[in-house]
Amino acid sequence: MGLPTLLFICLIVFNSIEEKLNQRRILPKIRIRQHVNPLRSKYRNPITLPNWEDIYQNCHLPLHLDIGCARGDFLLQMAQLQPETNFLGVEIRQPLVIEANKEKNKLGLTNLHYLFCNINYAAENLLKSLPINSLHYITIQFPDPWFKRKHVKRRVVQPELVKILVDYLVDDGTIFLQSDIEEVAKEMRDRFSQNPFLVQQHQATWLENNPFPIPTERELYVMEDHKPVYRVLFHKHSTAT
Ligand SMILES: C[S@@+](CC[C@H](N)C(=O)[O-])C[C@H]1O[C@@H](n2cnc3c(N)ncnc32)[C@H](O)[C@@H]1O
Repeated sequence: MGLPTLLFICLIVFNSIEEKLNQRRILPKIRIRQHVNPLRSKYRNPITLPNWEDIYQNCHLPLHLDIGCARGDFLLQMAQLQPETNFLGVEIRQPLVIEANKEKNKLGLTNLHYLFCNINYAAENLLKSLPINSLHYITIQFPDPWFKRKHVKRRVVQPELVKILVDYLVDDGTIFLQSDIEEVAKEMRDRFSQNPFLVQQHQATWLENNPFPIPTERELYVMEDHKPVYRVLFHKHSTAT
């Protein structure tokens, strides 16, 4: 099978999962784009940052940042399971963020927040606004794969973002990445493993199981289809290797 055919099949499968996810959640009648182009100028505007003291009951708890949280189900469950951690989901599709914050408010969770932002432009300002040494966990799970060669620069894991994330992560902090698209997982792993402060936590190329107790929405679909998931876990060391 040629590469263009393989890419075409991947695109069809990926879009059909996305459609299933959209149908699964009953959301109000708002238009939710399946994908947005993060390089468009409207997604490069500076964001308004909240006052974290107003957001979290205790803003000095360890923080878990989930990048591209979509509807936020993973964090909604994690926040209930782990009240001693603060959770922050960032997402570029604003309608999803508005709905996710409504769900969080209904449950009265004071250790969870969802923020509308394009992490590729907002990371530095966002992370520097957080209480110092609070960022303990970063997850990037099933990022949009942007299959076409001319679109790969739209992928969220870019070298500049990796540097900012690792700079703000505490020593011994955790980074967990996963994707069902091997090429995307490899690219993420390679970009993070180039950082001298990060040490991969497994000998095998891929980590077999998710170290977090809750699977994401896309992870559930992929696993229901018995498709492979490519996972990587890093810890940050205080000295470069
Ligand atoms: C394929 S979904 C995966 C959602 C979720 N992590 C999961 O595993 O079910 C990827 C999400 O990342 C969001 N996203 C893509 N680029 C982004 C960016 N630059 N900043 C913030 N979110 C982004 C997309 O809108 C989408 O909701």
